[in-house]
Amino acid sequence: MSTVFQASESTIEDAVSRWYGNATVRNSPRVLVPANIVEENIFPKSRQLIAEHQIVTSLGSEAVAYVLAQSTYKYMYEIGLLETRFVIDCALKIINGEIIAQADEQTRREAITIVIDEGYHAYVALDFIIQLKATSGIEPLSVPQTNGNLDAVRRGYAALPESMHAPYQLLATCLAEHTLTKDLLSIGREKEATRTFTQVMTDHVSDEGRHANYFATLVREHWRTLDVDTRRRIGTLLPAYLDDYLAADFSRRFDRSVLEQLALSPGEIETVLGETQTRYVANAKDYIDVTRKNLVKLLERTGVLDDEAVRAAFARHDQARV
Ligand SMILES: [Fe+2]
Ligand SMILES: [Fe+2]
Repeated sequence: MSTVFQASESTIEDAVSRWYGNATVRNSPRVLVPANIVEENIFPKSRQLIAEHQIVTSLGSEAVAYVLAQSTYKYMYEIGLLETRFVIDCALKIINGEIIAQADEQTRREAITIVIDEGYHAYVALDFIIQLKATSGIEPLSVPQTNGNLDAVRRGYAALPESMHAPYQLLATCLAEHTLTKDLLSIGREKEATRTFTQVMTDHVSDEGRHANYFATLVREHWRTLDVDTRRRIGTLLPAYLDDYLAADFSRRFDRSVLEQLALSPGEIETVLGETQTRYVANAKDYIDVTRKNLVKLLERTGVLDDEAVRAAFARHDQARV
């Protein structure tokens, strides 16, 4: 058996009892979507600036509820995409020995808990969408098949030789799990959303803390076993990858398409977008800065920045950004 991935007995037992004791799939009742979303905010308004603009609020509470419902659909669909197309795939590959050939059975067993947890998160998100459609009568504007995060991951694969895809996937999943944990914590703290939405976020984040730790430990242990070429090639890609992964849509295609469904003239739509743009851009830039710093710290902790060439790539990139 490999010595590289053998955790101590107490850590293994902790992981097992933490999952049995805390996993939401084992312990949470079904989340019921409120019957009337016109009376409560189904999504935090602070995360959807157009819902608070006077031109939109003057259309009445049903219009505001429509806008917030569309943001909810988008958010929930994107959670489903991340889980089913990305994280579960990585966990399955760990179980099947495709990412780390020498992973021991405890490591594989914990990866199975991740498949189960993420499957449940995708279930809760889709259940939320189905209930919301039924109670509100509002149809989602679109059902996304991908998003900016997943597109960035795909571009990362394309930039690397196939032999490096497995360690890249492990690292990209680790970065995504940390980002998601922080995002859920922060959106779950928003005050004005309905309890139901907050509950979904709080439940989800209670599992994600465990996942984030698991992936960080795995990357830390696995990274040092890779050859220097692989570590360097993936590592030097990371400064641009993080930009791509965290990029915001400053042209606001989604907001525009939601506004186009309301009884507004083209001029009014431009006014709503124009008058919220400064705050939108500031919020997005704050988010990108804070998240990027957190991810760089994670790369430091997991040893990815130990290589001098990788650190130099980050330094060059930071200088170019100033
Ligand atoms: Fe999840
Ligand atoms: Fe997760």
